Amino acid sequence: MRWRAFLSSKSSSSKAGNVLASRPAGHGAPFAFSAALNGRAPSRNPGTVISVSNLRIQREIVILEAIDWAVQRGEHWVILGANGSGKTSLLSALTGYTPPTAGEISVLGEKYGKSDWRELRKRVGVVSSSIYQLMEGHQTALDAIVGGRHAVIGKWGQVSAAEMRQAEKLLRMIEAESIRNRPWRVLSQGERQRVLIGRALMARPELLILDEPCAGLDPVARERFLQFLGRLMQLPNTPTLVLVTHHVEEIIPPFSHVLLLRKGTVVAAGPKSKILTSRLLSRVFDASVQLRHQRGRYSMAVSASAGVVV
Ligand SMILES: Nc1ncnc2c1ncn2[C@@H]1O[C@H](COP(=O)(O)OP(=O)(O)O)[C@@H](O)[C@H]1O
Ligand SMILES: [Mg+2]
Repeated sequence: MRWRAFLSSKSSSSKAGNVLASRPAGHGAPFAFSAALNGRAPSRNPGTVISVSNLRIQREIVILEAIDWAVQRGEHWVILGANGSGKTSLLSALTGYTPPTAGEISVLGEKYGKSDWRELRKRVGVVSSSIYQLMEGHQTALDAIVGGRHAVIGKWGQVSAAEMRQAEKLLRMIEAESIRNRPWRVLSQGERQRVLIGRALMARPELLILDEPCAGLDPVARERFLQFLGRLMQLPNTPTLVLVTHHVEEIIPPFSHVLLLRKGTVVAAGPKSKILTSRLLSRVFDASVQLRHQRGRYSMAVSASAGVVV
């Protein structure tokens, strides 16, 4: 019902869309962002977005142990860890797909085990490689974005005029107007990632989780994608972002905080200026790592030594 009420109130936002249409591509995006994101339902608990306490996940092995983590509204986080350190498992626990063995999880004010997690999932957008299986090759970029509405409505049906307007706005927001009618199967990796973000935003999430969104992008495409993400993050009403990666190069300035994972445990978590150090990253990667920080961006060099492959 909330979604329906919201859609019917959206028709007034076409003004912002007109402003955008008169601007050159790449400069009007902020207007589109605001127009497309305004009207999200306020969180029931405005302060804390994610709260994880003493989380343990055990299957055949212990996947995560003693995880304590809190994300406040206004923060944007990077989860950084080597392959197999438990990053995706932590995301999967947050979205209720991997039930915890012990510990507590709260997301957007809802406590796991007490609230209906299917309802909670409607407020959380996830972009990960596992979504690729859901995409049909013939569907266009616009179709793919429109398809994101089902996360909220929960059933297939007619696309309303308001939903189409919303999808068109998102298409501009993800800077993909030129690929509007192109089928999914021919889209480049970078285009696909932007379309999946548009699709996730269609459900107006309060929290947006990106699991290795730069995987498979060449260096230039990755940089373009990161610049795009930076523009998205600068705009008002942008959801709280959590980006998962194992590359410090992807920690762009709008990310404020970092959670470092190693072998299923937290090495450190907090503001990136405190967390991103050569010492802590050497622990994360079990190697001698030299972190470089230049003009708000990071890179790292790994010292060659016995047993370390660089
Ligand atoms: N359902 C499961 N059963 C057993 N082991 C699992 C399961 N899910 C993940 N793992 C293991 O947990 C570890 C962390 O996996 P994952 O969270 O995917 O790491 P990352 O995303 O950091 O690369 C890996 O060793 C993986 O094989
Ligand atoms: Mg992973």
